[in-house]
Amino acid sequence: MQKQDVIDYIKSHLDRPIVLIGMMGVGKTKIGRDLASALSLPFIDSDDEIVAAAGMSVADIFERFGEPHFRDGEHRVIKRLLEEGVKVISTGGGAVMTPDTADLIWQNTISVWIKADIEDILKRTMHNREKRPLLMQDSPEKVLKDLLSKRQSTYSRANIHVGNGFDSSPDTCIEDILNKIKGVLEK
Ligand code: S3P
Repeated sequence: MQKQDVIDYIKSHLDRPIVLIGMMGVGKTKIGRDLASALSLPFIDSDDEIVAAAGMSVADIFERFGEPHFRDGEHRVIKRLLEEGVKVISTGGGAVMTPDTADLIWQNTISVWIKADIEDILKRTMHNREKRPLLMQDSPEKVLKDLLSKRQSTYSRANIHVGNGFDSSPDTCIEDILNKIKGVLEK
């Protein structure tokens, strides 16, 4: 089946939001934006919504109010976004580690786990740590490895799993996701 036929199939059958999950630095925002554009859907990054609602950066929220406060805001934002209809949403890497947030995602969306190796994540996150206070430490590599080992069994509950290496083409990843979304909708 041609890519355009897959897109047309998804557009006529999609009845819930598509939510991207996975570690920071795997490319959820870039892939989410491209996926939304391929499907002519709105795209929203939940971290951007939290920052807009709080009027301060993710790093400032963590520093001034702590991670649990950030997770509460993240839950409220994701709940609201899921109530607002079909769209593509990319979530922060820790969102599904809040059980209530994860349940909302498992029950109401097509969930997509974007995966990449730790080396690739390090390359992508090297220059953008303002949004990632968890990496503002001596050994981001160790932090990432620990987080991934705690999180991967939760991530693996997503409906769809796709790889997005640092050197791989976003188009290949998008095509992989589109084919797998069609597979989920056909079930
Ligand atoms: C976090 C990931 C970040 C952001 C916050 C916490 C995490 O989002 O939500 O720094 O716990 O993994 P990205 O995954 O978009 O980088």
